[in-house]
Amino acid sequence: MTAVLIDGKARALALRESVAAGVREFVAAHGRAPGLTVVLVGDDPASAVYVRNKGAATLAAGMVSAEHRLPAHVPEAALLALVAALNNDPAVDGILVQMPLPRHIDSDKVIAAIDPAKDVDGFHPVNAGRLATGLPGLVPCTPTGCLLLIEEILGDISGMEALVIGRSNIVGKPMAALLTAKSATVTLAHSRTRDLAAHVARADILVAAVGVPHLVKGEWVRTGACVIDVGMNRIALPDGKTRLTGDVEFEAAAVRAGWITPVPGGVGPMTIACLLANTLKAAWARSI
Ligand code: GUN
Repeated sequence: MTAVLIDGKARALALRESVAAGVREFVAAHGRAPGLTVVLVGDDPASAVYVRNKGAATLAAGMVSAEHRLPAHVPEAALLALVAALNNDPAVDGILVQMPLPRHIDSDKVIAAIDPAKDVDGFHPVNAGRLATGLPGLVPCTPTGCLLLIEEILGDISGMEALVIGRSNIVGKPMAALLTAKSATVTLAHSRTRDLAAHVARADILVAAVGVPHLVKGEWVRTGACVIDVGMNRIALPDGKTRLTGDVEFEAAAVRAGWITPVPGGVGPMTIACLLANTLKAAWARSI
């Protein structure tokens, strides 16, 4: 069997178009566009690229994009003061503090300082708790994007075996919560899991989010499975160049899977589209 390639770019484009339509409705109702503010600390080149892409996508959706760049040595208190100012700014609907932060800054403290109503990353403990308890709230963007892809392919996933590999607060844990809410039978595997191969072999749905290139061997994958690869690993090639690759051995897995996401072009574009959707959702929720 040869897997069908999941076109995250096309799905993300459709979502971005529907967000842009929602933005036009919001503007008609409120006389202003929703605003997303991104805070970037330091000069990590990969983070700078993400932030630039987010800004461009925000503008393309018809929203107001703002960016604050702080030097790597900025005191934690200054960052917390900026977050407090953004919390109090009525024109700001969404606040995103780009991770990772420099080591002298406590990320948990910064995340907790963001108004949960503006937490478009869905990282605040209030939003994490809401997701865990089935209450409405802002949900992290990457797992939301993964679920949209999964449901578009499989429809009702109730009763299916889902394996999530990776227990981060950003992807793995919220992914497991979302799949559980859809009545899948969910296993959350991580670095201490014994016999990962046996778990992978049972999974109708596999979401790999560990950041270890090719951890999941193609031969482990269940025939016909839906494989979502969140990994974005930069690896060196023999010629000295680099390329991005996922957590799954793509070619070998594609022989067995029913559907598989490419890296790049699978989950990545969905994350930004879901961030725009969260910003619009936050704007509506704050304006009622
Ligand atoms: N760094 C890499 N991905 C993300 C993300 O989705 N949100 C934030 N805030 N930082 C990131």
